[in-house]
Amino acid sequence: MHGHPHQVPWEAAVSWAEIFEHQKRRQPLVEEWLGWLELGPGDHLADLGTGPGLTSLMAANRVQPHGRVYAVDHWPEALDFLRRQAAAAGVDNIDLIQADLGHDDLSGVVPAGRVRKAMLTHVLHHVPAPQSVLQRVHAWLGPGARMVVAEFDPGGPGRVGPPPEERIREAELAQWLSDAGFHIVRRKTYPEQEQYALLVERR
Ligand SMILES: C[S@@+](CC[C@H](N)C(=O)[O-])C[C@H]1O[C@@H](n2cnc3c(N)ncnc32)[C@H](O)[C@@H]1O
Repeated sequence: MHGHPHQVPWEAAVSWAEIFEHQKRRQPLVEEWLGWLELGPGDHLADLGTGPGLTSLMAANRVQPHGRVYAVDHWPEALDFLRRQAAAAGVDNIDLIQADLGHDDLSGVVPAGRVRKAMLTHVLHHVPAPQSVLQRVHAWLGPGARMVVAEFDPGGPGRVGPPPEERIREAELAQWLSDAGFHIVRRKTYPEQEQYALLVERR
């Protein structure tokens, strides 16, 4: 993959281990979202922008014995962190894929035909052109595939997550998803965690 990550201040300021700790605090939400996807044995899930990979580790357990998780991130260090976590936990059904969601063609590296479920959580506020990422993901996923998209709410006080000015409004994200060809199946807000999640289906 030729994607060249550019560093943003948030990523420069914290370590992958710290981000992993943040992810652990969101674990109940991730369980709920994997439930929305009805993720179970034999499924193939793409975790787009996995970071240090807690979602991928949780999903890898659910899809055993024959399912797989494709953990995608543009940062090799994040994938190295996840590789170590997976090895320590004896998890061997995660494929680590270094790719830039804004530039790389996922179809060459992740078998979209088999991937019917995806997570895109807390990623879009990092990318310079989120709408083009959604268009690329739409082009790659097959019709009927489902995906959970979660982001932080700019209306929150900023106690957790990125600064409010870097966040994406739910109405705006919903419009982008619809424009890209996704149908919104359900939505939920989490005021305590200053975030919201949307379950979408690729049309
Ligand atoms: C805040 S972390 C979220 C991690 C995880 N999805 C979660 O919900 O906890 C954002 C991740 O998205 C990744 N990311 C940002 N832009 C990306 C891009 N263009 N391509 C691939 N990964 C990207 C970052 O490297 C980082 O690991």
